[in-house]
Amino acid sequence: MSSEDGADFIVVANRLPVDLERLPDGTTRWKHSPGGLVSALEPFLRRNSGAWVGWPGVADVDVDEFTEDGLRLYPVSLTGDEVRDYYEGFSNATLWPLYHDVVAPPVFDRGWWDSYVKVNHRFAEACARVAAKDATVWIQDYQLQLVPAILRELRPDLRIGFFLHIPFPPTELFMQLPWRTEIVRGLLGADLVGFHRPGGAQNFLWLARRLLGLEPTRGAVGVRTRPGVIQLGDRAVRVGAFPISIDAAGLDALSRKRETVARTNQIRADLGNPKKVILGVDRLDYTKGIDLRLYALQELLSEGRVDPDEVVMVQLATPSRERVEHYQRMRSDIEQVVSRINGEFGRVGRPIVHYLHQSVGRAELSAFFAAADVMLVTPVRDGMNLVCKEYVACRHDLGGALVLSEFAGAAAELTSAFLVNPHDLDGVKNAMHAALAIDPAEGRRRMRALRRQVLTHDVDRWARSFLDALDPEHAH
Ligand code: ADP
Ligand code: G6P
Repeated sequence: MSSEDGADFIVVANRLPVDLERLPDGTTRWKHSPGGLVSALEPFLRRNSGAWVGWPGVADVDVDEFTEDGLRLYPVSLTGDEVRDYYEGFSNATLWPLYHDVVAPPVFDRGWWDSYVKVNHRFAEACARVAAKDATVWIQDYQLQLVPAILRELRPDLRIGFFLHIPFPPTELFMQLPWRTEIVRGLLGADLVGFHRPGGAQNFLWLARRLLGLEPTRGAVGVRTRPGVIQLGDRAVRVGAFPISIDAAGLDALSRKRETVARTNQIRADLGNPKKVILGVDRLDYTKGIDLRLYALQELLSEGRVDPDEVVMVQLATPSRERVEHYQRMRSDIEQVVSRINGEFGRVGRPIVHYLHQSVGRAELSAFFAAADVMLVTPVRDGMNLVCKEYVACRHDLGGALVLSEFAGAAAELTSAFLVNPHDLDGVKNAMHAALAIDPAEGRRRMRALRRQVLTHDVDRWARSFLDALDPEHAH
């Protein structure tokens, strides 16, 4: 989808789908970027030969545009100070905690804000250079909320969409932000602003009225239907709910491969062929409730409701935002609980919790999913959460049981999971206990219902529903 004068379809995100890694010997290589945004968008973009504007993941490097496996990549550079102030600071120590229900206290720093404004200008300018006339530009996530309005100023010919991958907070919390009006104005530069859930869209409509005195429509926003509309002079901004998903068929196929099945058996054997395997897979983030599920396991073991000879837990945790203080504190808390559980209940050669502070590849991950009798997804707040959908996509055998937080966006769709309030430790323990002891027929019934939802609502459907709403005359 590109013409001689530029690209016709462009995604703009803070990160490129690949991250530049500096190796100890001074050389560099590209690796897959972390997080749900890239997991979801990359397969769609590759299938549609789009262009992608984003940061290559390390400070102070200038990389020329390049093509990777059919995808045109346009790197945007950040200095070391910008990584500290725009990325680690304003994006991940102000907006991230504020938008996740202030699970950690957000820091409001004027210098960070200045850097956020400056970097948003740089992304918008990069995009304006790359876009063909009348192109469609799809801006992603909380790091780039000012880009829609800046880009519209630079290039009024473009069709501009924006999607927020994290929760949009209750209005009372959003109102704490000193730069709340600027953010709302920035987003209103788009033709379509998308959220995961109707509640987020509704909050945004309320803020447009309250902060800018606009008159949005008052009807309830639906899922993929009935967007709200805000009239801005002769321009209408639509505001809708588009729950994101995964490349479900791709993962289903991967999990059926003979190599994956063999690897699943190997993983269970390496774990000592326990009766039950429990799994957690997350970026190491304080919103994910990794500590809560470990406390629940610890209590179940102490109370004798879980037998340490029968159960093993694996926690895969991708390193994330390692210089941000809250992430450092949480990492050491989690590592302490892991060692406490192993110290108290493990035996030589038989730890209870296998904790890997590592990222694993897709094939390996699908083998872990298939090996897990119980999958724990317990965020205290999550825009969607893709891990739970990936688990379901990998269970064509209809085995396994999913324990899922009510506070993940996915809970609205995955109603046949064991839904829990992660703040209610007894509730989490009871759900884990029930999932470990599930009758196989009941397990299959639940998994069949979960798979029906995930396999029919994949990432292509999400992207198409958004792009169709952005450009109704050219259905995708
Ligand atoms: P977030 O975007 O907040 O990280 P999601 O659940 O939406 O949360 O997406 C996380 C993505 O990262 C998923 O695609 C998941 O498979 C992947 N992931 C998380 N942890 C790991 C890990 N340790 N190794 C490999 N992939 C991981
Ligand atoms: C979440 C965010 C993404 C982000 C990803 C990884 O999925 O919504 O915007 O890219 O986490 O976080 P990082 O800070 O490493 O990009």
